[in-house]
Amino acid sequence: MQTHLESYLTEKIRREGHISFSDYMDIVLYNNAFGYYTNSKKIFGPKGDFVTAPISSSLFGEAISNEFINLSEDNPNLSILELGGGDGSLALSIISRLKKLDILPKHYIILEISEYLITIQKQKIKNQLPDLYDIFEWTNVLDKQKLNGLIIANEFFDALPTERFRIKNKKIDSLYIGYENNKLCYFWKSCNNSFYRELDIAKNNHEKLEYENYISELNLNYNKWISLLEGLLTSGVIFIIDYGYHSSEYFLKDRCDGTLVCMHNHTPNFNPLINIGRQDISTFVNFTHISNIAKSLNLLVDGYISQSSFLINLGILNIFEEKKYSEEQKIIELNRLKNLLLPNTMGEIFKVLVLKKNLDNQLLSTKKLNHLHKL
Ligand SMILES: C[S@@+](CC[C@H](N)C(=O)[O-])C[C@H]1O[C@@H](n2cnc3c(N)ncnc32)[C@H](O)[C@@H]1O
Repeated sequence: MQTHLESYLTEKIRREGHISFSDYMDIVLYNNAFGYYTNSKKIFGPKGDFVTAPISSSLFGEAISNEFINLSEDNPNLSILELGGGDGSLALSIISRLKKLDILPKHYIILEISEYLITIQKQKIKNQLPDLYDIFEWTNVLDKQKLNGLIIANEFFDALPTERFRIKNKKIDSLYIGYENNKLCYFWKSCNNSFYRELDIAKNNHEKLEYENYISELNLNYNKWISLLEGLLTSGVIFIIDYGYHSSEYFLKDRCDGTLVCMHNHTPNFNPLINIGRQDISTFVNFTHISNIAKSLNLLVDGYISQSSFLINLGILNIFEEKKYSEEQKIIELNRLKNLLLPNTMGEIFKVLVLKKNLDNQLLSTKKLNHLHKL
């Protein structure tokens, strides 16, 4: 028996024909009622499918709050915008620390597509920061807002619907999803010129992709999001924190099956056509692609840095040392800290792209070990 989501998909394909992979990903993750992020299934934590940095340790958000404090020295009226609020952990850790130091933002805005997650985020803030509930705002679209301050996107860009492509017989085809013999299946169709143009931007013009039987991803949604952020930011900083690579690493010859990964019950798999609406689907972020888009707009690319160096620059080790943990708690928190920083966990796989607009300040987060030259 088909689930509601499967019936919706097969009906749509029957009516309209094959759908692009990005349309498929958009439906299975974000369909209003039945999508993975909207259907009230437990997503985060030990009983869900995965854990993100702010959920694994409050030190992550507390360290990020130091950049907000740095920016606020010149301008006391800044706001924070978080893209994709998850279970509310990042907002809670940032505002809890800023409250203690009495350097609060004017507004803390959470952009969230999922009504279910908005309810969880609101509950967490109401329970733990009742006196500050009023500085929070929730929205599911960015259109007319203007923002002076800090924008944070942690594990947001990996979750944006993407195209997948295949190089075969020296030709590039794009992936579509169809329905045959009672099941969803792959179809490959020739790419159009705008796809080729965007691929040039994603891989730097001089890099060649002369491979055979090679699959990878090109995210056509980056453009929309970076343009939106550039349009709404009057002055400030954007942190894009995610697992990903610069383009020469992204399009390595050996990475011939691409970067797409699905997560279900903390176990990865590489088949987006199973567990429909019950598993996360994401792709590694191509930071060169985002950086090239940002440069073509009114944004300055200030940093490309590992999560580990980013958090150490922000003073995460001092924040840890200043905590008054019990001996037992200290061991637990130290393990969480290691998870954020060590190269074999999140420290190196996760990178941060730091973008600036109309701002001269030296940022704390990019002061050392900045690898901008790799982009
Ligand atoms: C992988 S989760 C990361 C959550 C959180 N940032 C964290 O690090 O724990 C992606 C988040 O982005 C939200 N999201 C994805 N696409 C969105 C969109 N187009 N508009 C608003 N929120 C979106 C999801 O609902 C979810 O909260």
